[in-house]
Amino acid sequence: MPTITTIDDLRVLHKRRAPKMFYDYCESGSWTEQTFRENTSDFEDIRLRQRVAVNMDNRTTASTMIGQDVAMPVALAPVGLTGMQCADGEIKAARAAEKFGVPYTLSTMSICSIEDVAEHTSAPFWMQLYVMRDMDFTARTLERAKDAGCSALVLTLDLQILGQRHKDLKNGLTAPPKFTIPTMLDLATKWRWGMGMLGTKRRFFGNIVGHAKGVTDPSSLSSWTAENFDPDLNWKQVEKIRDMWGGKLILKGILDPEDAVMATKIGADAITVSNHGGRQLDGALSSIRMLPSIVDAVGGQTEIHLDSGIRTGQDVLKALAMGAQGTMIGRAYSYGLGAMGEAGVTKALEVIHKELDVTMALCGRRDVRDLNRDNLLIPKGFEGDWV
Ligand code: GLV
Repeated sequence: MPTITTIDDLRVLHKRRAPKMFYDYCESGSWTEQTFRENTSDFEDIRLRQRVAVNMDNRTTASTMIGQDVAMPVALAPVGLTGMQCADGEIKAARAAEKFGVPYTLSTMSICSIEDVAEHTSAPFWMQLYVMRDMDFTARTLERAKDAGCSALVLTLDLQILGQRHKDLKNGLTAPPKFTIPTMLDLATKWRWGMGMLGTKRRFFGNIVGHAKGVTDPSSLSSWTAENFDPDLNWKQVEKIRDMWGGKLILKGILDPEDAVMATKIGADAITVSNHGGRQLDGALSSIRMLPSIVDAVGGQTEIHLDSGIRTGQDVLKALAMGAQGTMIGRAYSYGLGAMGEAGVTKALEVIHKELDVTMALCGRRDVRDLNRDNLLIPKGFEGDWV
């Protein structure tokens, strides 16, 4: 077993242990993957100010996200097919998040159902929703999330049609996998994954199968999206869902200051600055590059979370210092799950926490809530001079 010291160590192990189609699903952006790459590389352009001879004792990374106490401002993002990275993946990730003291978000496109995750955890989790053509399905999902005690609704706005990820088409991605020759050859080398899957009955989209009608292939994410997601989503519908839900609302997938203003007017408790991990509009700017203009537009009026590109605690620190109150990680924890199950998610959180804590100290801060732009060196023109 290699010594794990970085998120990338977990990624390498994930690649070795999970079936190719699921690792590739995680490690893809749409089309050329430019946005996917820049989400991480743009963080590297921001540098940190080293400060010395300041008290570094009694540090804290504790904060709040939408009024909830968090051990660090890092929530687990909604990730589709999590339960295909390892058996019962959503339950394992939610448990790791609960023990660590950070929020877990369950995707609509999860393998374990809302009820199943609720039954196997005790901390309330956040529920992510895609808006479907079938409003009854949406209404039922909201009721199920309420019954499960979910403490926030994360409404995703940037995926009404799916950005093309070439690898998923080439791999014939389905959940569970269909037994084609290339898939069987790959699965033959992934015995640990296979043993886990044989030991669970959770192998289908648990929030969908048995809950929604009229799907031609219930195992295919792409046919699901094409047939069921509502391409006509508009702000009126967002308001309607806000009223149907009645609880804390996070609007995810905001990348433009004008949309941030709309989301704030609608009364979102938080917005998630996100380009869906570079999986939707390839060619969009990275989340971290768009953050300053969004902070200028709505900072102080709604809480701002940043998602897409975070692979280190230093990335978390940079997002916070640039004005976000919280962050979300998707791939960073999925690597851990695919590598080592629940222990891998815990490891991912520990790695990020340690990097955040030590970096904060070396920047001369003791409280994560005190981070600000003074801690950063941002190159002139970082936001870009776009017309
Ligand atoms: C959404 O679920 C995705 O595949 O990005």
